[in-house]
Amino acid sequence: MIGGHKRAKSTNIKKQRQAQIRRQKQAEEEVQAPRKRPGMRGWVGPGRGEAGVVQMAEEWRGTTVQACGLWPFSVGTGTPMVGVPLGRNLSSGATLCCDPISWFQRAKLISNPSAFVLGKPGLGKSTIIRRMATGIAGYGGQPLVLGDLKPDYVDLIEALGGQVITLGRGRGHLNILDPGESRAAARRLTGKARSRVLADAHGRRLNMVSALLTIMRSSPPTDREETILDRALKVLDDRLDGTPVLPDLLKAVQDAPDEVRQVALDRGSMDRYREITDGLEASLIGLCGGGRLGETFSKPTTSPMVRDRPVVFDVSSIDDSEMDLQAAVLLACWSAGFGTVNVANALADAGLEPRRHYFVILDELWRALRAGRGMVDRVDALTRLNRQRGVGMAMCSHTMSDLMSLANEEDRMKARGFVERSGMVICGGLPAAEMPMLQSAIPFSEAEQNMLKGWQDPPAWDPATNKEAEPPGRGKFLVKVGGRPGIPVNLQLTSVESGIHDTNKLWHQTSRVGSAEPAASETTDTTEATPVTEPTATTSEEIGQGTSGDRTSHTDTDVSTHS
Ligand SMILES: Nc1ncnc2c1ncn2[C@@H]1O[C@H](COP(=O)(O)OP(=O)(O)OP(=O)(O)O)[C@@H](O)[C@H]1O
Ligand SMILES: [Mg+2]
Repeated sequence: MIGGHKRAKSTNIKKQRQAQIRRQKQAEEEVQAPRKRPGMRGWVGPGRGEAGVVQMAEEWRGTTVQACGLWPFSVGTGTPMVGVPLGRNLSSGATLCCDPISWFQRAKLISNPSAFVLGKPGLGKSTIIRRMATGIAGYGGQPLVLGDLKPDYVDLIEALGGQVITLGRGRGHLNILDPGESRAAARRLTGKARSRVLADAHGRRLNMVSALLTIMRSSPPTDREETILDRALKVLDDRLDGTPVLPDLLKAVQDAPDEVRQVALDRGSMDRYREITDGLEASLIGLCGGGRLGETFSKPTTSPMVRDRPVVFDVSSIDDSEMDLQAAVLLACWSAGFGTVNVANALADAGLEPRRHYFVILDELWRALRAGRGMVDRVDALTRLNRQRGVGMAMCSHTMSDLMSLANEEDRMKARGFVERSGMVICGGLPAAEMPMLQSAIPFSEAEQNMLKGWQDPPAWDPATNKEAEPPGRGKFLVKVGGRPGIPVNLQLTSVESGIHDTNKLWHQTSRVGSAEPAASETTDTTEATPVTEPTATTSEEIGQGTSGDRTSHTDTDVSTHS
């Protein structure tokens, strides 16, 4: 019995030791190979709830100020991180920061602070310019939209706290004889600076009267008429208290003061004076109201332009069929705008005010150029002098063919120069026929040309939603600087921008007049009609400072470029 009991005890001890060894082995195995976890699709296998679709993780980008973390696998960008953040480079995923003022002034990458944007309609040309304007405003520059024909910029400038000047029949007046802020500025200046500001304001007003006469008559005024106008303006300034208007100028010519009679060379005969000034008087009467140009220029300025805020001239109410009025209004806007720039420069040169850099936007340039005689020359002068005046510029047109379709060969050559002289050319989707013309201004590689052609393809129709998909080229641009390879970029709107930058506002409600369906407040797409409440601060901070998180749906591996 005793022997049997001993045997049973030793078998138990053996079993216990084997179990102990087993547990030890299991523990060692667990240490070597940790317990399995579910993969991206969960537990794979029948009855284990495997996920068929893997959702993309949302990706966020931001500077280290806001996104407090460090992505260790960042790669450098090919371009300096200087300027307004535009979007991601389509090939590397790196952030592209770019605007003509920063690339000229700070990064010294371009020789002229100007950009020319080309691309088919609706692909986002105005949107990319608005992004730049927003960022530049954030950096302390001032966007100036000298004639918004659509309007594309009114909402933005309002959101930035700027000034909206509305012009058009019955909507607002711009007195072309108003010296603007130059009088007040001259009082603060002395010596040469003072006389330069006054002379500039005088010349600008005289030019505007001549330009309006040219548009009215379809031919420029004669030398003698210009001299008469010049002298009459001087007489007005000396004798009139306050700001003269066109009827005052007409009266000065009619009253025949001695100074004016002298330059009219009437040889002491009043009859001869009347004969000489007859045509001029008739044209001035036309300009004073009732004529083709209405009363837009002959009454005191409704809303005088300020120099310390972003400004837009809203001229969208003028129909395209009124080419003369459109041309005249655009010229007047440019004249007023550059007058203000000159005043700001004179005051900054004298150390009386901080230096201001303006970002002048000439969108829909093809419409401005076609509007009338002399427009090409004005733009030509602007593109040559903008650097000296400390002004950054953005011009926008659909295609080079628009520029090349001007009636006059001389004008066509000048218009080509606008693209050639621009510091950078930003191209969106363009048709194949455009390529040879574009090549003549800036070199494009075969691959770049194919890219641009691809971006103008029409979007797909989605039978499930009965809607058109996003156009493949919307927001995609190739930034070309000289002969260098282009930088392909995809601009993605922030939530604040997409509320402001909606050029389809008139299409949110469906027309159901007289139909049986009740649809007074029906919207075609509720997501598009989302109102924006307080966009001002967010916009400039979000984009201008480039500091906030920017949510993207980029699908590649993250190559964020945290600064
Ligand atoms: N990057 C983008 N992402 C999403 N929507 C965009 C983008 N760019 C533009 N849009 C939208 O596309 C529409 C047309 O844009 P935009 O007015 O800038 O085009 P455009 O090229 O200036 O057109 P046009 O030649 O007619 O002036 C607008 O409703 C705008 O909100
Ligand atoms: Mg546009």
